[in-house]
Amino acid sequence: MPGTCVIGLQWGDEAKGKLVDLMTAEHEIVVRYLGGANAGHTVVTGGAKFKLHHIPSGILNPNVDNVIGPGVVVNPAVILGEIDGLQERGISVSRLKISDRVHLVFPWHIAEDKVTNERLVGGENIGTTLRGIGPCYRDKVGRTTAIRLGDLYREDFPERVERIVAIKQRQLGALDAEAAATLDAGAIVEEYLGHAKRLEPYVCDTTPWLLEAVESGRSILFEGAQGSLLDIDHGTFPFVTSTNSSGVGVAAGAGVPWKAIDRMIGVAKAYTTRVGGGPFPTELTDAMGDRIRELGNEYGTTTGRPRRCGWFDAVAVRYAARLSGVDELALMMLDVVSLLPEVRVCTAYRLDGQTTTDFPSHADDLRRVEPVWEVLSGWKTDITGVRSWEDLPEPARDYVVRIAGWVGRPITRVSVGPDRSQTIDVPLEEVAPAASPSR
Ligand code: GDP
Ligand code: IMO
Ligand code: MG
Repeated sequence: MPGTCVIGLQWGDEAKGKLVDLMTAEHEIVVRYLGGANAGHTVVTGGAKFKLHHIPSGILNPNVDNVIGPGVVVNPAVILGEIDGLQERGISVSRLKISDRVHLVFPWHIAEDKVTNERLVGGENIGTTLRGIGPCYRDKVGRTTAIRLGDLYREDFPERVERIVAIKQRQLGALDAEAAATLDAGAIVEEYLGHAKRLEPYVCDTTPWLLEAVESGRSILFEGAQGSLLDIDHGTFPFVTSTNSSGVGVAAGAGVPWKAIDRMIGVAKAYTTRVGGGPFPTELTDAMGDRIRELGNEYGTTTGRPRRCGWFDAVAVRYAARLSGVDELALMMLDVVSLLPEVRVCTAYRLDGQTTTDFPSHADDLRRVEPVWEVLSGWKTDITGVRSWEDLPEPARDYVVRIAGWVGRPITRVSVGPDRSQTIDVPLEEVAPAASPSR
């Protein structure tokens, strides 16, 4: 049962889309299993750029099946926009399957997201993507005001919407009367029935289909979204998303037994970024942070927001790698730090007079940690044209090998640019962690 999973080990945007696209050729099926339009995965090939929110990054390969599993929340208008955009560019979506179990994002979710995001905890906003993700998952767990994709094809759909709109108008109205007044059940029903018609060719119960695929030994690539440090249970709560976005959520979101996953690949940038609020120990709020943002073009794929930038945090990535049972790492965007005079890595935290390599459970403690830095010399060389490990400058190789050591996992791939071709396979003997940190 060969199942490979690609998950982010930081706060999202680790270039998972690029890696999934690259690895699609080795698989028969690509599965997205969580998140929704909050995700923005970029694939660049031969100068053409594709931005995907719901649709798996395997879609550019006509030989694979692409599945959106039950754990995803779908905004029908957004996914139809993605489908249209791909088709206009000559990409077939005929092998796309969307689970009829996915929960749907409705206008009230987006309105609720706006209202609640502005009223958070301790004066800091979560800084959500305002795509209605949290409220949609909240309704899913609450059950009584949730609507799944399969419900669009049932007779009682208009009645359900009317009932829910009446509830939402009262709830939302208490916080934002204007937003509540815009909810029009009749218009929503009409719009969503239109979407239902267009989505119908893709909708099915993906669960038996995937189980059959697993049991017959087809090779499956599971595409993570968000990042492990945004995990609802294991991330920097409450500055997280609403799903188990670390490796622990794969089987639940896809609808496969955990034994279907036998290879876990963790993706990390050669530095760190974060969009939205929350603690970020290695953040650079100075000119160096601005420099990394410009060099890496660190602006959100979904919202266009400038991403917060900082040095590589080996404590955080090691935590995420252990939590998700990561077998190997892909280190992305090495080219971005390649022109800098020096590079830094946080190898431990100082907290209350103690040095630790554990990742604190409380956001307030993470906010208080002081990074213990390892400073390495830069290589000040453009490496975007390098295609082999041997041709990387010695200090760049040293940086990669040492990160593998601090994180405690081998780095098997290094990315030196957005294009598919800008990827270097690392010989295993080079990257086996020399000295894994003590457990
Ligand atoms: P994802 O959400 O994890 O799929 O990542 P995003 O697509 O949101 O962000 C990654 C960005 O970095 C995209 O614009 C990619 O095209 C780009 N990218 C991917 N790999 C590299 C790389 O090695 N170097 C550079 N400079 N950019 C990269
Ligand atoms: P990909 O798949 C980066 C962040 C938001 C916010 C928090 C909660 O492209 O890596 P939400 O809208 O999910 O309720 O927002 O999570 N966030 C992401 N950050 N990349 C993502 O996805 C993200 N998805 C959510 O910025 O801080
Ligand atoms: Mg992204």
